Amino acid sequence: MVDAAVANVCGSDAIKANLRRSWGMLSADIESTGLMLMGNLFALRPDTKSYFTRLGDVQKGKGNSKLRGHAITLTYALNNFVDSLDDPSRLKCVVEKFAVNHINRKISAEAFGAINEPMKETLKARMGSYYSDECAAAWAALVAVVQAAL
Ligand code: HEM
Repeated sequence: MVDAAVANVCGSDAIKANLRRSWGMLSADIESTGLMLMGNLFALRPDTKSYFTRLGDVQKGKGNSKLRGHAITLTYALNNFVDSLDDPSRLKCVVEKFAVNHINRKISAEAFGAINEPMKETLKARMGSYYSDECAAAWAALVAVVQAAL
């Protein structure tokens, strides 16, 4: 199942181009992109807050140092995925390593999919007129690789 999801991403020049182009814009400010993604997750899917009790009051945004640390490491994780797009076996092993942290926290594939709409809103905010639904679909295809590993 992971192999098929990896092949879907790595075998598509259009998906890879959309991921790379948008990553260039998302990664211009790793920290605020991560905070925006988490803020969008909690706004659009408040039910997911129950997974993040360790972080304390997530409404404080950047003023919450635990949330800030999480946002930064989360965005660097995305960097690992984007750097592996031309090597399917590398993307697979990076995603499987990444999935362990979430399996240990009992995040199901379905729960992980909660990130898609928040990612879409983050892409719109970061990319402005360069945003397209194909771009959001490319990120959903990458999220599907993680979901296949959960
Ligand atoms: C783009 C999608 C996501 C990325 C790149 C990501 C990345 C990460 C990273 C790098 C960590 C730190 C791992 C560690 O230190 O052990 C983490 C922790 C965590 N993730 Fe994710 N994650 C994503 C989506 C989600 C979603 C959708 C959920 C829940 C529905 C979730 C729940 C958690 C939880 C509960 C933790 C532990 C937080 C803590 O107590 O520090 N993640 N994530």
